[in-house]
Order: sequence, then structure tokens, then C-alpha cells
Amino acid sequence: MPPAIACVDLVRRFGTFTAVDRITLQAHVGSVFGFLGPNGSGKSTTIRMLCGLLAPTSGQAIVDGIDVARDPESVKRRIGYMSQKFSLYEDLTVRENLEFYGGIYGIGRRGRRARIDETLERTDLTDNPDTLVRELSVGVRQRLALGGALLHRPRILFLDEPTSGVDPISRRRFWSLIHELTAEGATILVTTHYMDEAEQCDRIALIRSGKLVADGSPADLKRELMPWPILSIDCANPFEALDIIARTPGVRDAALYGVHIHAVVEDTAVADALRTALEASGHAVYRIEGVAATLEDVFVAAAEGDADA
Ligand SMILES: Nc1ncnc2c1ncn2[C@@H]1O[C@H](COP(=O)(O)OP(=O)(O)OP(=O)(O)O)[C@@H](O)[C@H]1O
Ligand SMILES: [Mg+2]
Repeated sequence: MPPAIACVDLVRRFGTFTAVDRITLQAHVGSVFGFLGPNGSGKSTTIRMLCGLLAPTSGQAIVDGIDVARDPESVKRRIGYMSQKFSLYEDLTVRENLEFYGGIYGIGRRGRRARIDETLERTDLTDNPDTLVRELSVGVRQRLALGGALLHRPRILFLDEPTSGVDPISRRRFWSLIHELTAEGATILVTTHYMDEAEQCDRIALIRSGKLVADGSPADLKRELMPWPILSIDCANPFEALDIIARTPGVRDAALYGVHIHAVVEDTAVADALRTALEASGHAVYRIEGVAATLEDVFVAAAEGDADA
């Protein structure tokens, strides 16, 4: 089966600046593809080319087997797109917003009502169809924006940071919807800055400065990009301790990880030297233990350029 979404050497320049630099990737039918990278790395620009909203400078964006640049209109009919700054009408109700999307997608009046009811059901909005959007919480708005993108029953969805600014319970709810949709055969490309969401993707592409840095399942990325052991360190004044840890021989990298410090080390035996160095500088050490790499460790390493080595 051909991939649902593909980029082949995709490039987009704005003047002399290259926002997307020869990206090649594939998302398989029925999968969740996570598109990750720091702010300004080119995620939204890539998505806009895949949705037919922005022409590539060179290379190809292919969706459902169609070269987007050749036939953007037929691509638009097959996809749902939730933009990073999704647009809802604040002074209209939930149902009226969906009516509006129904009009845009050319869903006839007779079919529209049933389609809207189905969408309300699907996105868990049956409790508040007549509430004005401006009275809704961010989490509910986000589900409504997804509803707008789903109304014409697309098989391929592009969700650009759909859960930014949403509380953990709403994010969880949103992701269970994502899994429901892919279980039915939809393909979803989603961008996120949340690592717990990245863990839930079948495949992840990591980009930096417009270039693909890594591509694979979360387990692949951890194996390939984080071959070194990690020590989790719990000590007094972690912010100051970070510097001491980073300077200890055998430590490749150290970063704050919540209230702990994660040190990427050449060997777990470095733990003894770390304890000595910290205690010598007056930092009480509560705990040092080996931990499994998380995607966050991988991304911190990749963002600092280690992945290019
Ligand atoms: N129309 C444009 N004209 C000029 N530069 C642009 C344009 N659109 C995007 N850029 C630049 O291209 C780069 C990539 O932007 P893009 O929005 O794709 O990043 P992103 O990965 O989606 O970032 P974020 O995580 O902040 O959403 C940025 O430096 C941005 O300023
Ligand atoms: Mg973006």
C-alpha cells in the first residue's frame, strides 16, 4: 500500500532563508505520525505544503498518492487540517461553527445536519452544541476545531499543535480520539511539543532548522540516538549542581529534568565521581540511579547537535 503522506526532498525557501530543507518522510495508512522539532524548525511550513496551502520551492509533497502541487484541490477534499492558530467564530455556537465548516466543504443541507450530529458525538460535544464558542474552555474549543476538520470525513488529518495550552485531562481525551480515528484507518500527522504525546506516535520525525534529524518509532529513536547510559540525580540546589555535574569527567551532557538532573554518562560508574564532586561542593546528594532514556533525553541530545555526529 502506498504511504498516505510522503515528502520527497521537499524544500521551501522564503527569500534566501531555507525554512524546509530537503525533507523526505513517509506516513503509513492508519498510523499516527509525530512531527517534532523546536520552534521555527519548519513543521508548520511543511504541513502547509502538504495541505496545498503553500507551494514547495522544490521537491514533492504527496498525499493519498496525489502530487499536491499538481492537484491541490483534490488533496484538499481528502484531508482535514487543524491549523496551529485554528479559526473558530467566537460569537457563534458550537453547532453554528460546524454549520459554517459544512458550508465550506460543500456538504449539502440535508446531509449536513446528520453529519454535524455525528461530529458532535465523535468529539464529545453533545453536551454543549448551543454554547457560544467564547464561553468554552480551551480544551473544548480544540475538540470543536478537530470536529471542523473531521466534518467531511477525511481519511488523512494534519493537526498542527492541536493540544498546545490544553490541560492534561483534555489532552488525554484528545489523544484517545486520535487513536480511535487511526483504529478506523485514518492517518494522522500531528505536531506537538509534549513528550508524552510523542511517545504515543507510531513514528516520529524530528527536525531542526528545516532538516530531518531523525525518523523512526519512539523505541528506534531512543536506541539510535541515546546509546549512552543515563543517571538520574536528586540533590540539593539542582540548578547550581548542573554545572558541577556537566564538568565531571565521563559526563557527556547534563540537563534538568523536572526537579531531577539527567546526566548522560559514558559509564554508570561515573556515579561515584559525581557523588564525590557534588558533596565536595556542598550539594547534599539524595539519590543517584540509572534510568531508561526517555524521548525527552533524545530530543535534548538531538537539539544540541549530538545526533548529527
Ligand atoms: N511566510 C513566511 N515568510 C518568511 N518566513 C517564514 C514564513 N513562514 C514561516 N517562516 C519562517 O520559517 C521558519 C519555520 O517556521 P514554521 O512556522 O514552519 O516553524 P514551526 O516548526 O512550525 O515552529 P513552531 O513550533 O513555533 O510552530 C521560521 O523561521 C519562520 O519565521
Ligand atoms: Mg508551527
